[in-house]
Amino acid sequence: MNSFVINSVKGDINLGQVSWEAPSNIALVKYWGKKGLQLPMNSSLSLSLSSSKTKTTLSWRKKPKGEGLSFDLLFEGKKKVQFQNKISTFLERVEDKIPNLKDYHLEFDSENTFPHSVGIASSASSMASLALCLGSFAAYSGNESFLGDTFFEEVSSMARLGSGSACRSIYGGWASWGPYQIDNHEKGSDFYATPFTKIDPLFKEMSDFILIVDSSPKKVSSTKGHALMEGHPFAEARILQAENNMNKLVDSIIKGNWDVFQSVVENEALSLHSLMMSSKDPYILMHPRSLVVIEKIKEMRAKTGVKCCFTLDAGPNIHLLCPKSENTSIKRFIESNLQEFLENKNWIEDSVGSLGPKALEC
Ligand code: DP6
Repeated sequence: MNSFVINSVKGDINLGQVSWEAPSNIALVKYWGKKGLQLPMNSSLSLSLSSSKTKTTLSWRKKPKGEGLSFDLLFEGKKKVQFQNKISTFLERVEDKIPNLKDYHLEFDSENTFPHSVGIASSASSMASLALCLGSFAAYSGNESFLGDTFFEEVSSMARLGSGSACRSIYGGWASWGPYQIDNHEKGSDFYATPFTKIDPLFKEMSDFILIVDSSPKKVSSTKGHALMEGHPFAEARILQAENNMNKLVDSIIKGNWDVFQSVVENEALSLHSLMMSSKDPYILMHPRSLVVIEKIKEMRAKTGVKCCFTLDAGPNIHLLCPKSENTSIKRFIESNLQEFLENKNWIEDSVGSLGPKALEC
């Protein structure tokens, strides 16, 4: 592992470069609400995707001592000022893990594999790929904690400081984050995510059809949404609900119980949106067409028995999940029954990617 992290670096410690690609993820049990420094109020569980990814290249050059942190942020080769503050906060937060960071000028250049402006959240894959690059930089500059088998744990912990959900994008397949302890071997932590591997064959190959209902920018960011969980009248009940749903979901995945899986996943999606609607500054991120699509999915499922279920991020778009064996029926269903309710008839076929992040040739 060490050699692979180190060998992915081109150049030397005065002037070097590293590239990583990290997957986007979709949460089934939702992280909603924070405490302390980007620690989750409740446990969450997610699936990393195989096609929706962000690639980031980090280039560094040594600079005179005493100048403090400095960086440029590029998106597809062009300067991006929009996320400047977010990255600045992120770098300040990781500085105590990589103390020599301020001795270098950094340049991050990112690109997504998914189309622009379709409403797919990119903060998880972006922050994960940035953290992986910083992790390689730290390992290359001899930072002990990034040199051992704990590399991914350390990187996940850094990614969390950029965006909570990013800590789960450090792994392929399924990952959990938070206190929930999956079993004696897979301990749960608030600080980093852990891969979850005890998967029944039913869930080994899953598809995620991302149905683009509305791609307009969100009215309320996830970060603001998390903040509204402080003092939320249902906060305590939500924490209990999430831990309970983790229990049921993990058990269903281990045992291959589709019905329990489906009911928990849909309960989580609707609970997330109910929490937004019942916060002290209530807001609605679903679109009327999101509800139409959900009803159509339920109708079709009741009629045909096809295994599928829906989930939503903090937005109006629907993720339609199914075992890969149902792909043909689901595609036919989307084309003939759902497409008319989608923005520009737009949908994206993705699947659970077991491989996870990848160090790339620079
Ligand atoms: C609804 O990770 O985007 O997608 O930590 O403020 O960056 P920050 O928030 P973010 O929140 C994601 C919320 C969610 C659920 C989830 O991914 O678990």
